[in-house]
Amino acid sequence: MKAYLLDSFGPPENLRLGEAEKPSPGPGEVLVRVRATSINPYDWHHMRGEPVIARFMDKGLGHRPGHPILGCDVAGEVEAVGPGVTRFRSGDPVYALVPHGAFAQYVLVAEEHLAAKPQSLTFEQAAAVPMAAVTALVALRDDARTAAGQRILVNGASGGVGTFAVQLGRAFGAEVTGVCSGRNVELVRSIGAAHVIDYTAQAFTRTARGFDALIDVAGSPSVWAARRVLRPGGGYIVVGGDAGRWVRPVDHMIGAALMGKLSRQPVAVTAVRIGAASARDLTELTPLFDSGAVTPVVARRYPFTELPDAVRFVEQGHAPGKVVVIVE
Ligand SMILES: NC(=O)c1ccc[n+]([C@@H]2O[C@H](COP(=O)([O-])OP(=O)(O)OC[C@H]3O[C@@H](n4cnc5c(N)ncnc54)[C@H](OP(=O)(O)O)[C@@H]3O)[C@@H](O)[C@H]2O)c1
Repeated sequence: MKAYLLDSFGPPENLRLGEAEKPSPGPGEVLVRVRATSINPYDWHHMRGEPVIARFMDKGLGHRPGHPILGCDVAGEVEAVGPGVTRFRSGDPVYALVPHGAFAQYVLVAEEHLAAKPQSLTFEQAAAVPMAAVTALVALRDDARTAAGQRILVNGASGGVGTFAVQLGRAFGAEVTGVCSGRNVELVRSIGAAHVIDYTAQAFTRTARGFDALIDVAGSPSVWAARRVLRPGGGYIVVGGDAGRWVRPVDHMIGAALMGKLSRQPVAVTAVRIGAASARDLTELTPLFDSGAVTPVVARRYPFTELPDAVRFVEQGHAPGKVVVIVE
């Protein structure tokens, strides 16, 4: 099968389109023919092996890449099933969040890590969902405990995670304020934000006040400034942050956790779980897609032969929504 192989950490040019052995499903495994995948910051962190501090915390980031094939978002069709698989059969449309292996024509997924693709979504749209939407769901549902009538602020509202966070916040009945750059204000409004703050015109930490939760996807304010926008007892939910070569955004996350301890402000660092938990989350999200309450925002599409360009674009950190790669 065709796959992008990574022999050593480095820039997108290190992703080499080559031939890899087509896997065959063992007991409890499903072989999926990948129709589309999408690019996440997770992918380029694993491609570059950065931040370097993460190499001590993540098995996929040692001195050399832990996995030769990157890619965590899968939308495709079941090609074959291994012994004991009962929930899926050949031809079923599926989607999944996997730790690695999606930048290929085929990937093996454990049966319990797989979910049925929402009927209303194309493979291209479904590929935009797993990492970004599951992260947004975990941040809003578990970390912020978002409830109807609350006011939530999403910083980084126009990116992959942010566009899902805004829509999920609204679907949960909250009033959402989004923070993004000026050119994405209309996009963020169009997906359901009641208010939008252009961070290039004003720092939201100066004016925004009284929020029940700050979902901080961009990680741009200092943890102390972030605190000012919350009502007493409001939650600071750290999802991501500007990435650096050595430590960032890990220092930001540690700082936030420390602030939580010192100030008794509820603080959570969102941690998406890949596997059976993410399959359950995808199954929970499916009705929201099928009812039209949430729609993936696809910023760009790339053919498989141009996957390194797609990674290069996402690395710049300003994609308005998700970047999808069609796997021929
Ligand atoms: N904790 C977890 O489990 C988990 C899981 C997935 C992702 N993440 C992290 O979450 C972060 C976002 O991921 P993503 O997939 O959404 O990335 P993305 O698609 O690249 O989106 C990044 C967004 O950040 C916005 N942005 C950049 N600078 C900003 C600033 N100063 N203020 C406000 N917004 C700003 C950009 O909007 P403009 O173009 O409008 O500037 C862009 O839309 C990354 O750090 C990623 O590693 C964490």
